[in-house]
Amino acid sequence: MQQWVHLNGQLVPKSEATLSIYDHGFLYGDGAFEGIRVYNRVIFQLEPHVRRLFRSAHALSIDLKTGPEQIQAAIVETVRANQLDSGYIRVSVSRGVGLGLDPAHLKSEPTVVISTEQLRLYTPEMYERGLDVITASTRVPPSVCIDPQIKSLGRYVNNIMAKMEANRVGAGEALMLNMDGYVAEATGDNLFLVQGGELITPPPSQGALPGITRQVVMDIAKETGIPCRQSVVTLYDVYNADEAFLTGTAAEVIAMVTCDGRRIGDGMPGPVTRRLIDAFREKTRTAGVPV
Ligand SMILES: Cc1ncc(COP(=O)(O)O)c(C=O)c1O
Repeated sequence: MQQWVHLNGQLVPKSEATLSIYDHGFLYGDGAFEGIRVYNRVIFQLEPHVRRLFRSAHALSIDLKTGPEQIQAAIVETVRANQLDSGYIRVSVSRGVGLGLDPAHLKSEPTVVISTEQLRLYTPEMYERGLDVITASTRVPPSVCIDPQIKSLGRYVNNIMAKMEANRVGAGEALMLNMDGYVAEATGDNLFLVQGGELITPPPSQGALPGITRQVVMDIAKETGIPCRQSVVTLYDVYNADEAFLTGTAAEVIAMVTCDGRRIGDGMPGPVTRRLIDAFREKTRTAGVPV
């Protein structure tokens, strides 16, 4: 079946969706993006994702020349065109096209690309068993240099380096520390610990992206009476947590059962994690924007 890509305001066949070699996203990582999921023809958390995209663009001083409603409509249109029942939507924006880093040299409006794919990060067995995770030597950049609240293209070179560290040793994910040695997040996911019945997750000030899935889990925790707080997290806290799990649009909610060779809790997805995974899956079945 013909696949379509929304490129700068128009649906074009995927084979014709090409970008300039001088696109600032390609040249300098000068842009932002979102990854969004569709479950059974319902787009999950569409508004929060689009809101974060506009905040990222605003912080980067990229004027998208369009509004959130138009981008949302374009996302819906792309999902419909590709008859995507369940899958992944990628929305990428860049400052535009022009050689030289000075934005004064740009010769175009910002680039906006919306595409859809099938994406499965982990096997069903990994969701059942939980992930073995390592700590990467690659750090997240200090929040005062690149704010982690901006889901910027350029920031991800570090996350890719960290992911390669995990791949090299056959780990499912890598935790990334900030320059003070506190745990920020994983390469494409947020971290939660369960300790004494309470959820703990690092705040954006420690280098964590304010994840949409993280917020969904925090909302579920509130609805179901599980206390949750944002706090500085050390590796000691991770190793000694009762349970730990990761959240992200791509990864969804997945238990983390070892870290750096230390068993977390009893080395299996714990009861709180399992409850939250079930509640998260239930939300993906019941909440969102239909297409
Ligand atoms: C670095 C990083 N942290 C956390 C997340 C999880 O965020 P979300 O739940 O919004 O996908 C992502 C994925 O977008 C990410 O790239």
